[in-house]
Amino acid sequence: MKTVAVVLAAGLGKRMKSPLPKVLQPILGDPSLLWVLRTLPTETLKALVVVHHGREQVEAALEAWGAAGLLPCAVEAVDQGQPLGTGHALQVCAARLDALGAERVVILCGDVPLVSKATVASLASAEPALLAMDLQDPAGYGRVIEGPEGLAGLVEEKDATPEQRAIRRVNGGAYGLPWPGLREALAGLDNRNAQGEYYLTDAVAALSRRIPVRVRACDPAELAGMNSRADQAALQAVARHRLNAHWMAEGVGLMDPATTWIGPRVDLGPDVVLEPGVRLEGACRIEAGVRIGQGSILVDSDLGPGARIRPYSLLEGAKAGAGAVIGPFARLREGSVLEEGAHVGNFVETKKAVLGRGAKANHLAYLGDASVGEGTNIGAGVITCNYDGVSKHRTEIGAGVFVGSDTQLVAPVTVGDGAVIGAGSTITFDVPSGALALSRTPQTVKEEGAERLRAKRRPKLG
Ligand code: UD1
Ligand code: CA
Repeated sequence: MKTVAVVLAAGLGKRMKSPLPKVLQPILGDPSLLWVLRTLPTETLKALVVVHHGREQVEAALEAWGAAGLLPCAVEAVDQGQPLGTGHALQVCAARLDALGAERVVILCGDVPLVSKATVASLASAEPALLAMDLQDPAGYGRVIEGPEGLAGLVEEKDATPEQRAIRRVNGGAYGLPWPGLREALAGLDNRNAQGEYYLTDAVAALSRRIPVRVRACDPAELAGMNSRADQAALQAVARHRLNAHWMAEGVGLMDPATTWIGPRVDLGPDVVLEPGVRLEGACRIEAGVRIGQGSILVDSDLGPGARIRPYSLLEGAKAGAGAVIGPFARLREGSVLEEGAHVGNFVETKKAVLGRGAKANHLAYLGDASVGEGTNIGAGVITCNYDGVSKHRTEIGAGVFVGSDTQLVAPVTVGDGAVIGAGSTITFDVPSGALALSRTPQTVKEEGAERLRAKRRPKLG
C-alpha cells in the first residue's frame, strides 16, 4: 500500500512565548517534530510536513535532518499559506497526495512527540483508524462518539453539548485513513462552527459514515501534546523516565535517575555508569564500562570502552578512545579527538585537536587546531596561539615531546618528535626533532636585593 504521511506543523504555539516555532522546541535535546518524523515506517513513500509559522526555520531544520541521515523517509514541506484549520491543512496537501498516488494517509501532529513507532506502524498498515485516549479530564480535546461500527462522530469541545462534553474518550489527533475517501470528505468541508475553522475532524466523521473507522484507544502518555512550557516539561519528564528505564534494563547504571538526561539518539553500552546530573544529547555513542562523572554534559560525542569522564566536564562533537581520561572540569569542543589512553585534565580546553595514544594535557591548557603525537606531555598552562586576529593556524607537535609548563606555541608552528621545550617559552618557529628549545629572558639574581627593595618601599617616617 502506498502510504504518505502528513504531519501538521503550521501552528504558532503562542502559549510557548518563544520565537522558536513550537514544533522545533526540544524534548531531551531533539525537536518535537524530529521525534514525530522518526516514528514513520521506512516504507512511507513521503512525509508532507504542513508548515506556516516559522516556515523558514522548520524548512531549514528538515533539510539539516535529511542531510544528517536522521529521517526514515523522504520529507517535503508544504506551505499552508494561511492556517484555516486542520482540515484546511489536509486540503493544501491534496494535490501532492494525488500526484504521489497515495492510497493511505497517516496523519500526525508535529507537537505530539511521544507517539511510539509501533502505534504509527499500526496506522500505516491496519484498517482505517483514529487514535483515541481515555482521560479523567477531557477538557480541551475533541470528543469521540462511538457506534456499533466504530467511529460515529467527532465533536470539538467548543461545539459540544453538555452531554457530549461528559464523554471522556477524546480524539488523539492521529489517523490512518484511505486517501481517496478522505479526499472526497475534505471537499465537503465548511467552517460553520464555533472556531470558524475547517475541521479535519468533520471530514473524518463524514468518512466514518461511509466506511468503518476504528477507534483505537491508546496510552495517553503517547498522545499528549505540547501547548505550553508546562506541557514541554511534562513531556520531557515522561520521555526521560522511559529512556532511563530502557537503559537501566540494558545494564546501564544510573546513580540518580531523577537527574539523568539521556537523549533519544544516545547509544549506551553495557555497564556504563552515569553519575548524578549527567546530560547526554544528540548522537552520542558510549561504549561498555565508561563512567561519566557528576554534572557532565555530552553532545554528539563518542567514548570508547572504559573511558572515564570525571565530574563537570563538557564535551561537544568530541571523540575519545578506549581508556581515555577526561576532566574534572574539562571542555572538549568540536573536532577534539583523544586516542586510546590520552588524558585531558582540569581546566583544559581543546578544539579541533587530536591527542595521540597516551598523550597528556593534565592542567590548565588550551589546545586549538592542533595535533599532539603519541606519548607527548603538555605541561600546565600551555597555550596554542591559533588565532592571529584574522585567521586560524595549526600547531603540529610530534610524538614523545615534552612541552614545558606555561609555553605558548605561536601557530603555524611544528615541533618534531622527541623535542623538549623549556618551561615558559614562547615558540614562534619550528623546533626540529630531538632539539631543545628555550626562549626565556636570562634570569638575573641580585644578592640581598630583596631587603634593599623593601627598604626603598617602606614609608619614610617624619
Ligand atoms: C485537534 C482536534 C481535536 C483533538 C486534538 C488532539 C481538530 C479540529 N481538532 O484539536 O479533535 O482532540 O487536535 O490534540 O482537528 N495545525 C495546522 N494548520 C492549521 C491548524 C492546526 O497545521 O490550520 C496543526 C497545529 O500546528 C497542530 C495540529 O495541527 O500541530 C493540531 O491543531 P490544534 O489547533 O492544536 O488543534 P486542537 O484544537 O488541539
Ligand atoms: Ca493542539
